[in-house]
Amino acid sequence: MLPVVVALTIFQWTAGAQPVSLMVNADQGEHTISRHIYGHFAEHLGRCIYGGFYVGEDNASIPNTNGVRNDVIKALKDLDIPNLRWPGGCFADTYHWKDGIGPKSERPTLVNRWWGGVLEDNSFGTHDFLNMCELLGTEPYMAANVGSGTVQELIDWVQYVSHPKDSPMAELRKQNGREEPWKVKFWGIGNEAWGCGGNMRPEYYADVYRKYATFTSDWSNSDGIFRIASGASDDDYHWTEVMMRDINRNLIEGIALHHYSVIDWSAKGPATGFSEEQYFTTMQRAWNMEELVTRHSTIMDRYDPQKRVALVVDEWGGWYNVEPGTNGAFLYQQNTMRDAMIAGITLNIFNNHCDRVRVANLAQTINVLQAVILTDEEKMLLTPTYHVMRMYKAHQDATLLPISLQSGEYQFGGKSLPAVHASASRDDEGTIHISLVNIDAEKENTVQVTLHGAGFEQISGEILTSAKITDHNTFDQPDKVQPTTFRRFTREGSTLNVTLPPFSVVMLTLK
Ligand code: AHR
Repeated sequence: MLPVVVALTIFQWTAGAQPVSLMVNADQGEHTISRHIYGHFAEHLGRCIYGGFYVGEDNASIPNTNGVRNDVIKALKDLDIPNLRWPGGCFADTYHWKDGIGPKSERPTLVNRWWGGVLEDNSFGTHDFLNMCELLGTEPYMAANVGSGTVQELIDWVQYVSHPKDSPMAELRKQNGREEPWKVKFWGIGNEAWGCGGNMRPEYYADVYRKYATFTSDWSNSDGIFRIASGASDDDYHWTEVMMRDINRNLIEGIALHHYSVIDWSAKGPATGFSEEQYFTTMQRAWNMEELVTRHSTIMDRYDPQKRVALVVDEWGGWYNVEPGTNGAFLYQQNTMRDAMIAGITLNIFNNHCDRVRVANLAQTINVLQAVILTDEEKMLLTPTYHVMRMYKAHQDATLLPISLQSGEYQFGGKSLPAVHASASRDDEGTIHISLVNIDAEKENTVQVTLHGAGFEQISGEILTSAKITDHNTFDQPDKVQPTTFRRFTREGSTLNVTLPPFSVVMLTLK
């Protein structure tokens, strides 16, 4: 028998625990989990860019590289973020990129009409963003202005960032200090065209999209252009139907979908001191992603059975009331173990649908909505969501392993949800990664994990949980919630008994 390295614990069937079984078919992987599912989003909104990413080149008190915070660079490099969407969001359809190049002192200003009417000084522009992406080792995903821009602006922007030489925009780029083009593959053709992007009807937007996409050229310095149509909000299936019906396949590589886990747009509830009822409702919203992805994919399958067009969930996450005393338009919210649950479930859903979901972006990276990083002047903290993203990065570009999961129920107020959620993958080295989430606020769940078609000699685990579901990290206690080594499993042959505490995310590594 091969040597087995297992952290042995006594397996206990505790009162109230429910039997859960997970079968992992380790020999049947077919699809790759694109690393781009683990993308992020940086909008000119509140303190995401200014104060979050960018503090200015002349800032003497916060260590920075070309104005970008060094602590943020390190934290995001540790996450291996695959792509970063910019400059919005709603802001994108008000943004004129030529205002953000050239000497900073000469750049025109702009009123940020969607996000508090604050004055945008354009000091963080195209060069700042693309150079930052190079520092982070991430691919840029640029969102073009369709709502209030022109086709010519987009033509020029693509040429400016991607054309190698001997073109008017390449010359302008060189005058501004950048000789070589950057590599920009992902282009969003507008954002939320049904709303802040222009309040368009899908039939009208489909035609507008066709026109813009026609002129969004690949200047052959990237591995192909990837044009993303503004997509549906939540369950607007008609939108997806029209996009798939009316846009020629040779003009589109991705279609977006936005879904926020919000309790009620008129009563979002607090980010921290929430009730179990509010928690349960948030979990229902997070779980809803499964149905949304499935049903939008079903529509896409009818037009595109080869799955050439990706479903791009380029905005997802929890959305609550802003922190008391902060600007209501800046969307600054704390981040608790509830957010860790949203992240764990959502990323498992994306993994399990990786044949169609090939890009996604958590909203948003710093100080806005379900952020992975919060900053306060020179202080910075990593949120529970950050830790889930870090634990799950093992799935990036790994092969999805089909699973069969029988979950117990998380019951609250006469309603119920599956308590346990999972996904599994195998990386290039043959290591198997299994991510498990128990959303039950009260009860632990023991999962009987059976691995088919592969053996393993070693198993290790990491867990994110805390004493209370409302626990979060603060600038005074930045490490209150952080991952620790997980040991609550036993092994019997190819079967593992894994005990998940209430509201926990666990990543198992089998070698
Ligand atoms: O992420 C915040 C906003 O939510 C985005 O700007 C917009 O696209 C969405 O409505």
